[in-house]
Amino acid sequence: MAQVIHSIPELQQWSRAAHKAGKTVGLVPTMGFLHDGHLSLIDAARANGADAVVISIFVNPIQFGPNEDFAKYPRDFERDRALCEARNVDVIFAPGVEDMYPEPLTCHVYENTISKNLCGKSRPIHFEGVTTVVSKLFNAALPDVAVFGQKDAQQAAIIRRMVRDLNFPIKIITAPIVREADGLAMSSRNKYLSEDEHRRALAISSSLFRAQKTFAAKPGIAAAKLIADIRAEITAAGGLVEYVELTDSDTMLPAATLEPGKSFTIAVAAKFGTTRLIDNIQLG
Ligand code: PAF
Repeated sequence: MAQVIHSIPELQQWSRAAHKAGKTVGLVPTMGFLHDGHLSLIDAARANGADAVVISIFVNPIQFGPNEDFAKYPRDFERDRALCEARNVDVIFAPGVEDMYPEPLTCHVYENTISKNLCGKSRPIHFEGVTTVVSKLFNAALPDVAVFGQKDAQQAAIIRRMVRDLNFPIKIITAPIVREADGLAMSSRNKYLSEDEHRRALAISSSLFRAQKTFAAKPGIAAAKLIADIRAEITAAGGLVEYVELTDSDTMLPAATLEPGKSFTIAVAAKFGTTRLIDNIQLG
């Protein structure tokens, strides 16, 4: 039976007791409305040594811009709880806004380089909200290991950098993207798509898979050609491309060319209808 904890001091107490009992604590930060992608993060925590797993479920207001979907972000705690029980999660940390932000913060955690690119251009306050809440979640759960999904590759790179720069004693795991059977990267926001939008949004994953195959067959190909083809396929499906960018896989900073022997990630954000989707694929 998963224990549900709402308060930060209670979670800290639980974590200290788990450490005292010799356990390795894993944290899976989420905003809930769990899908198989989130559940794979729980498995990744266990595979990376966690014998006690905390999943946090908190729709974090400070990472949403004023015109974004904070109010309508899907929430279903009882469904999430059942999925966590089935996965043998030890603790569900489900704080209220008043637990996380009893008063407006005057201290924030801010990454100033990686967060400026890609999603940072259209979501200027987003990553500061993420790094701030993740720091708070780290200080609440006191984990040894924390797991983030590769779908949010820029977020994962920022967290890796934050942990390195600020010396959080936490091993960060980035777990692979989990996709629907048709290729669409799993996301709680897929729920917003109509059937037709979902079908057309498959252009995102199919164009990325095609780029990966083309690169494997012709490693000398120009990055600009791969990017132009991805843009064209998404646009032809009626998607509004926000970005298609070549980045270094580790830092998620922009890369100009596909140098041999290095690993690159092509990252995409595009809108179908009013739903903004992100995805990425690794080359090399
Ligand atoms: O990826 C998410 O769901 C959120 O950005 C996170 C890491 C839980 C912080 O609110």
